[in-house]
Amino acid sequence: MNMRFKKVTLAALASVGFVGGAWAQKAEVIHWWTSGGEAAAIKEMADMYTKAGGTWVDTPIAGGGGAQARTVTANRTMGGDPPTAAQYNYGKQYEEIIKEGLLNDMSDVAAKGNWDKILPEKIRNAVKVNGKYFAVPVNLHNENWVWYNKTVLTKAGVTTNPATLDDVFAAMDKLKAAGVTPLAFGGQGWQEGITFRSVLLATGGADLYMKTFKGRDASSPQFRKALENFKKLKNYTDAGSPGRDWNLATNMVIEGKAGFQFMGDWAKGEFINAKKVEGKDFGCMMAGGPKMPYAIGGDVFVFPKTNKADAVAAQKKLAEMMISPAGQVAFNNKKGSIPIRSDVDLSKMDACAQAGVQAIKENRLLQSDNELITPDAKGAFEDAVSKFWNSNQSVDDAVKAMQTALKL
Ligand code: BGC
Repeated sequence: MNMRFKKVTLAALASVGFVGGAWAQKAEVIHWWTSGGEAAAIKEMADMYTKAGGTWVDTPIAGGGGAQARTVTANRTMGGDPPTAAQYNYGKQYEEIIKEGLLNDMSDVAAKGNWDKILPEKIRNAVKVNGKYFAVPVNLHNENWVWYNKTVLTKAGVTTNPATLDDVFAAMDKLKAAGVTPLAFGGQGWQEGITFRSVLLATGGADLYMKTFKGRDASSPQFRKALENFKKLKNYTDAGSPGRDWNLATNMVIEGKAGFQFMGDWAKGEFINAKKVEGKDFGCMMAGGPKMPYAIGGDVFVFPKTNKADAVAAQKKLAEMMISPAGQVAFNNKKGSIPIRSDVDLSKMDACAQAGVQAIKENRLLQSDNELITPDAKGAFEDAVSKFWNSNQSVDDAVKAMQTALKL
């Protein structure tokens, strides 16, 4: 073979990541998975990419809920220094960068992988924008769960598994009497927001949730009732709750220092990481009761615009791998979430995950606030929730502030 031709061919192969028949492409991935369970889950993806011959450059940005990570991604993407892939939640968080033309379209990977068929309709709608796939969904998380330590509850005389908000209040009274912190709480805006939305669902179900976030209406008596229920929870928290990270709160429940936590099912990833067993060591309850409408939550990865052939090849490889059956099972088993595709074996998952699977089967899926309101409106709404939680503000004044936020 002509030497010059050989060189060119090798260079061309290297440019799309294949050298010596193996995948050799570097991928920098931004995410906010820094707790024990989260890090174990993303490592599954990283290992898979590495096994395929690629180089995974991990860029974790601490901060539960991801606001900090999303800011870094947006700044770097707009500033011309994009990562290969970056995490977002379903919904409007990446709408702006799509509009600016800053993301690569993965529709060809989606067509090859049959995403239109494998994704449940409502999840497909949450990721497909103007008929194009600018994001690969990696899981279904639900933020509206309540976790509890079974041993601690039993010791305090709570012998039946709590199933409603009233049950939780009754159990927390017993825990208080027994001298245990009833509620492990992380006093950060996004966690206060999650807790409030769970209480909203528990108080008025999907109707109240949709009236609030789709109808942008906080004026009903039920909304006021939800605010009262929410504030009542504060009586059960400890003095250390302001500013506490979510996983430290989960740890209080894991270690039996507290009874309950309101948190998304990423908390389950912490229990799993601590080798705790669902049904024995800990239990879960849907905040809105067993037939709760399941707000579509969880994570997607987007692929910032680049024209470099090697980077585009890495993006496509990541998208394909993240949604593959093997990637889905390995990652979700550690993450506490549910695989996004139903053609994988879901039968070995614990009861909490099965409850989620059942919700999907029954199409009990709800558009979440991330889909229904803009990030600005959500931020302002959570600020108002936080103010109400952390001050003596009246319910009337809180309603007014929340109403204003929802109209943003
Ligand atoms: C994400 C989860 C993550 C949690 C806490 C949520 O927004 O969907 O994957 O574990 O934040 O950081």
